[in-house]
Amino acid sequence: MPQMKVPGSVDVLLKEEREFFPSPTFVAQANVQDKAIYEKAAENREAFWAGCAKAIEWYCPWHQVMNWTPPHCKWFVGGKLNVSYNCLDRHIKTAARNKAALIWEGERGEERTLTYWDLYLEVNRFANVLKNLGITKGDRVAIYLPMIPEAIIALQACARIGAIHTVIFGGFSADSLRDRILDADAKLLITADGGYRRGNVITLKQTADKALTECPNVKDVIVVRRTGLDVDVVEGRDHWYHNLVHHAAAYCEPEQMDAEDTLFILYTSGTTGKPKGIMHTTGGYLVGVATTYRWVFDIKDHDVYWCTADIGWITGHSYVTYGPLANGATQVIFEGTPDWPDKDRFWRIIEKYGVTILYTTPTAIRTFMKWGTQWPDACDLTTLRLLGTVGEPINPEAWIWYQKHIGRGHCPVVDTWWQTETGGIVIAPLPGVMPTKPGSATKALPGMAADILTDKGEHVEVGGGYLTLTSPIPSMMQGIWGDPQRYVDTYWSRWGNRLYFTGDGARRDEEGYLWMLGRVDDVINVSGHRIGSMEVESALVSHSAVAEAAVVGIEDEIKGQAIVGFVILKEGHHSNDAMAETLRQHVVKVIGAIARPQKILFARDLPKTRSGKIMRRLLRDVAEGRVLGDITTLADAGVVEELKKKYDEEYA
Ligand code: WTA
Repeated sequence: MPQMKVPGSVDVLLKEEREFFPSPTFVAQANVQDKAIYEKAAENREAFWAGCAKAIEWYCPWHQVMNWTPPHCKWFVGGKLNVSYNCLDRHIKTAARNKAALIWEGERGEERTLTYWDLYLEVNRFANVLKNLGITKGDRVAIYLPMIPEAIIALQACARIGAIHTVIFGGFSADSLRDRILDADAKLLITADGGYRRGNVITLKQTADKALTECPNVKDVIVVRRTGLDVDVVEGRDHWYHNLVHHAAAYCEPEQMDAEDTLFILYTSGTTGKPKGIMHTTGGYLVGVATTYRWVFDIKDHDVYWCTADIGWITGHSYVTYGPLANGATQVIFEGTPDWPDKDRFWRIIEKYGVTILYTTPTAIRTFMKWGTQWPDACDLTTLRLLGTVGEPINPEAWIWYQKHIGRGHCPVVDTWWQTETGGIVIAPLPGVMPTKPGSATKALPGMAADILTDKGEHVEVGGGYLTLTSPIPSMMQGIWGDPQRYVDTYWSRWGNRLYFTGDGARRDEEGYLWMLGRVDDVINVSGHRIGSMEVESALVSHSAVAEAAVVGIEDEIKGQAIVGFVILKEGHHSNDAMAETLRQHVVKVIGAIARPQKILFARDLPKTRSGKIMRRLLRDVAEGRVLGDITTLADAGVVEELKKKYDEEYA
C-alpha cells in the first residue's frame, strides 16, 4: 500500500463538529427524503436505473437495461434519444420556455441571460452551421473556448447533430491542443479571438493557429468574437461565428442517437506520458448525470445554481452543460477568477443573482480561508441553501469553514467524489437523508457500490486501502478513444475484470463512511486538475539541457498538491535559478500553465531500483522532508541520501 494519510486532522474537531444533520426544513423539501432508496436500488439495480431513465424522453425505448460483459457494460441497449432534445426541446414545451437557462457574467462584469427559448434557438442555429460545414454524426469537433455561453451552445449543438465533441481547456498549450486534435482526428475547431483572465487577454486563436499548422485534417475553424483582438484569418478555413449563425436556419432536427453512441471524448492525464481520451455514451451518461444532479444538488425550479468549473473539465460537462439543462435548471456561468478585480468576486456574484446552490473546489475554499472572512461577510449570502465541493480531498477545517462562513451554519455541504471516467458523481451524500461528516464524501449513491480493497483484493471493512467500484454505473466511461487495451489494463486488470480501479486511496470508518486519501498512482492533483508525472517528465526532457527528469507531487496547503521536478542536466549546462526558471517556462510552453512545476531540484543522479525504475516514492520523501522510506531495493543508496541532503539545505 502506498503511503497515505488522512488529509487534515479529524481529531482536532470538537465533538459537535464531527457530524452534521440537515435541518428539518431542508429535509422536508428535499428531492430525496427516504433512505429506503438505497435498499430499493440495491435489491434490483436494473429496475432502479430503468425507473431513473424514464425521467428523460426516448424516441424508442431500450430492450435491455444493462448488458454487462465485464469489463464492458452497455446501458439501455436499443434505446434511441437525443441529449440536446432532452436539454432544450423538452423544456420549451413547458413554462420553462421563458425561464433563464444561463446567466452569464463575463470577467469585466458583462451580463447576458439566455432563457431556455433563447438557448434553444442558438443551439439550433449553430447545429445548422456545423451541418452546413459538412459535420455529420460521429465526426469529431474540437472546442477550445473560454467560459462564455457559446461554449455550452457548441457542446449542445454537437450533441444535437450527433457529432462527438472534445473540449480542450483554454489553459492548455498549442502542443497539448495539437496532440488532442490529432488523437481525436477532429475535422473542425471552435475557438475564440481570445478570452479574459485577471484583466489580461488570453490569445486563444493565436495558440490555435500554431497548433493547427500540424493538424492537416482540420478543414474549418469557427471563431467566436469575444475580445475584439486582431487575429489572423486564414481564407477558406476560418469563419466568424456570428456571420455563420446569422445565416443559419432556426430549426435543426435532432439526430436520433443510439444510447451507446459516443457523446463526447474528454482527455485526462494518466500514468503514461500520453493523455487518455475518455469516451462517454449518450443514454447511460445522460441518465446518470441528470439523476445524480437532481439527487445531490436537490435542484428545484426556483433555484439559481452556480458551478464554478470551466467547460474544459468533466465538471463543466456533467454539471454545467448536461445535468442542469436536462433538469431545466437556472444556472450562473462565470468567465473570470475569484480575485479579479477583487477578492469578493464570488460573493458579489452570489449576492447579485441570488445564487442558491454553489459548487466549487477545496482549493478555492482554502484560498478564501486564507483571504479572510471579511470578503464574504461584506456580502449578502442568505440566498444560499446548499454547498458542494469536488475535485480533491477536502480537509475537515476547510469543510467547516465553508459551512460556517459561506453556508452560515445551515447549508448542507455535499462533498462529491467522482472522476472524468465515471462521468457523474459516485460518492456523495443525499443531502436530505444523510448526516455528513466534515472531510468525508460519505457513501456511494443509490444504485452504485464502492469498496476498499487491499493490494491483493481483499475487502477492508474498516481502514484504508484502494478505492474500487464494484457495480456498473450508467454514466461510466465507454472506453478510451483509439486504445481499447489501455481501458482494460488501466481500470479493469488489478483484481480481475469486474472491479474498477479508481486510482484513489480511501479509508472506511466504523459507520461505513468513506474518506478520500488522494491518488495512489503517478497522477498529481493540483487544485483538482489531474496532471501525469510522466507528462511533465517528458516535457522536461524535451528541453535540450535536460538529460533525465523525475516528477512527483508534494502536499500543498492550498492546492492540495504541487509539482516538484528532479532534473539531471546534460554536460555543460549550469544548475542555477535561471535554468530552473527556464525549465518551468518550458513545461508551461509544452503542456500549459497548470503543469508548471513549483520547484525544480537539480540532481547528479536519481534513485532507481536495480531494474532501472525511478523510485518516485523516495523522491516524495525527499521533497516533503520526511525520513526516507525503505531504500534496500535501490541500486545505489548514496544517490538518494545525497539528494536529501541537498534538498534539505536548499529548502529547509
Ligand atoms: C479526485 C473530477 C477527493 C480523485 C470530478 C479523482 C476527489 C480525481 C474528489 C478525478 C473528492 C475528485 N474528494 N478526491 N470529492 N473529487 N477527486 O477526472 O483523486 O478531473 O480520482 O474528475 O480527482 O479528477 P477528474
